[in-house]
Amino acid sequence: MQIARHINSLQQELAAITIQGESVALVPTMGNLHGGHISLIRQARKLADRVVVSVFVNPTQFDRAEDLDAYPRTFDEDVAKLEKAKVDLLFSPDVDEIYRPGSALTSIHVAGLSDILEGQSRPGHFDGVATIVAKLLNLVQPDVALFGEKDFQQLMIIRRMVEDLDFPVAVLGLPTVREDDGLAMSSRNGYLDAAERAQAAVLFSVLREIEDGLRGGERDYAQLEQNAVTVLEEAGFRPDYVTIRRAADLGSPAVDEQNLVVLAAAWLGSARLIDNIPVDLAAE
Ligand code: PAJ
Repeated sequence: MQIARHINSLQQELAAITIQGESVALVPTMGNLHGGHISLIRQARKLADRVVVSVFVNPTQFDRAEDLDAYPRTFDEDVAKLEKAKVDLLFSPDVDEIYRPGSALTSIHVAGLSDILEGQSRPGHFDGVATIVAKLLNLVQPDVALFGEKDFQQLMIIRRMVEDLDFPVAVLGLPTVREDDGLAMSSRNGYLDAAERAQAAVLFSVLREIEDGLRGGERDYAQLEQNAVTVLEEAGFRPDYVTIRRAADLGSPAVDEQNLVVLAAAWLGSARLIDNIPVDLAAE
């Protein structure tokens, strides 16, 4: 695997590894790689001749400075995992390489979608995400870029940006990879102590309960949401939101809506966990 730390070496390496007509897949990450990232890379290998992974802890998507400093950085372990997954090229730039001092005045805002749910809890977060993903797409120019449904709203915002700005790339979303007890894999799970880790899968179980309710014909969304909040609080979480939305646009669903997604965010100790389950009642 080649490792590029600078934009010009990225472009040299890209030219060196792709002979005419070969396709390129990009998997953007912030490192501290886990099974969720690896599943994106495996699928990327099936879809394209060459796989590029970026590892960049993007400062502009963090709302609090301490969160940025605390974010786990495990470069050597990440390199070993990427080698094992047969990635062709790792792009791992420094912050100054990506945000040249004095030159980062432009950002991308996907209106509406960026201001609700995660965007409401973390102002500016999705502008940071959209902008870095746009830059990575421009730098690598992949044929396909892969993202996880774990970050459902992020995936939706990236799809919207790519469509609205005519990026010549196919965006693929892949299902959430989970631990054995159902907890969605996440770099932030490392913030949990042993007691919190033992409770953490309650987040997934309350989403499953809502899914079961919806599939069983329950339509009192507010009641389903409130029950989940109560269970989370009893389990020691501090819920941010538990909400049933239209999967198409994250709007409030009508009572007969078929294509839903249940999303939740909750603090457990010093970790803010998010998860979701798409529930397509028409697909049964
Ligand atoms: P990061 O949290 O490192 O995630 C990188 C990619 O892995 C994202 O597309 C995310 O949705 C996906 N992912 C994370 N956990 C997953 C899981 N359990 N199952 C499946 N996929 C999972 O998301 C980001 O980084 C950043 O916002 C980024 C897009 C790289 C922009 O900085």
